[in-house]
Amino acid sequence: MQSRTAFQSKTIVTDLVLPSETNPINNLFGGELLARMDRAASIAARRHSRRIVVTASVNHVAFNRSIPLGSVVTIEAKVSRAFTSSMEVYMDVWIEDRESGECIKANEAIYTFVAVDETGRPIKVPELVAETKLEKERYDAALRRKQLSLVLAGKLKPAEATELKALFE
Ligand SMILES: CC(C)(COP(=O)(O)OP(=O)(O)OC[C@H]1O[C@@H](n2cnc3c(N)ncnc32)[C@H](O)[C@@H]1OP(=O)(O)O)[C@@H](O)C(=O)NCCC(=O)NCCS
Repeated sequence: MQSRTAFQSKTIVTDLVLPSETNPINNLFGGELLARMDRAASIAARRHSRRIVVTASVNHVAFNRSIPLGSVVTIEAKVSRAFTSSMEVYMDVWIEDRESGECIKANEAIYTFVAVDETGRPIKVPELVAETKLEKERYDAALRRKQLSLVLAGKLKPAEATELKALFE
């Protein structure tokens, strides 16, 4: 199976924040951002695997900065590492300053997707090739995050999480 670069999965979704998508203090509702990120990440995972993909877990979301009503929000999603059937997708969320046009980083998130066949059974995905310095950093740390996610989901015994154990040795 031919490997693909992180760049080949790159997905950019830009949209506005409308009144129906905000909380009582006129900032984007967290669940709305989670849904937008899920869509962007699923497209990135689909571009990498060229398969049906399902969300297996939301590993990390940091709502560092609120996103006001009327903002132009851009989500950039890329597969950061592919394992056997699962793919980690890393997202950066930006808001655009109306006057300067400058993009300010608002949030980051990491989701895991699994490629499945028509019956929902996991299937193998191509390897991912990380090219840039940032892509390589994210690739290197992805196995640790996968093990942490599996431990938290009760699917891996902490004693078997070799990458996590190595952090404390
Ligand atoms: C995701 C799903 C396909 C995994 O199926 P499963 O029977 O647990 O299959 P496996 O145990 O073989 O796991 C498949 C892969 O998912 C990974 N995985 C499963 N749960 C995970 C989690 N919580 N975090 C990270 N990776 C996870 C496994 O490590 C494995 O990865 P690998 O093949 O790359 O090594 C299955 O749980 C599912 O269909 N879930 C529902 C998905 C869905 O509907 N999402 C939308 C929710 S509304």
